[in-house]
Amino acid sequence: MVLKIESLDSKKHDLLNFYCGKDSLDSYIRRQASQDLKKKVAKTFVLVDAPATKVLAYYTLSFYVVDTSVLEDALAKSLPRYPRLPATLLGRLAVDQQQKGKGLGELMLFDALKKSLIASEYIASLAVIAEALDEEAANFYLKYGFQRFKNQPQKLYLSMKSIV
Ligand SMILES: CC(C)(COP(=O)(O)OP(=O)(O)OC[C@H]1O[C@@H](n2cnc3c(N)ncnc32)[C@H](O)[C@@H]1OP(=O)(O)O)[C@@H](O)C(=O)NCCC(=O)NCCS
Repeated sequence: MVLKIESLDSKKHDLLNFYCGKDSLDSYIRRQASQDLKKKVAKTFVLVDAPATKVLAYYTLSFYVVDTSVLEDALAKSLPRYPRLPATLLGRLAVDQQQKGKGLGELMLFDALKKSLIASEYIASLAVIAEALDEEAANFYLKYGFQRFKNQPQKLYLSMKSIV
């Protein structure tokens, strides 16, 4: 058995038995993720213990536009004075209940950051933006150096420059 992060494939992956404890994240992977992938709205990556196909964790990535007025002053000052700038959205990240506390959340976050950094070598992106469902989720991102947007505490960002 080997942990693998793969692009979502609804024909291959078992999406129906994913439970992370947050209904919106469970129903997204079961019902919406494949549609969003087909329509190029969001790209989902899933973690499986190959050759098993049950989804153990997933995250989504999309392009995003940041309103620079909501950035923390120190970062905003270092940027060109455009009202909006390009970024990458880590819209969802979830780990199955039975797998929590084993480092899989960190594994998925680091993989998402690595893919975001690689993509930014081709199409510019200032930061990775994470949308936290609640305070518990926000605390997870804060642990890894994400900072809150000024007026939207559930939205956090990590500058692309800080990803190595
Ligand atoms: C938040 C979540 C992704 C963490 O996944 P996980 O696999 O349990 O986390 P890991 O085992 O990889 O933990 C890595 C580190 O983060 C810490 N951590 C985990 N959840 C945390 C939280 N909510 N707040 C602060 N730190 C947290 C762990 O203690 C660990 O730290 P350590 O290495 O210093 O011991 C998972 O609990 C989850 O899916 N939650 C429900 C969905 C959700 O809220 N997603 C967030 C974005 S919408």
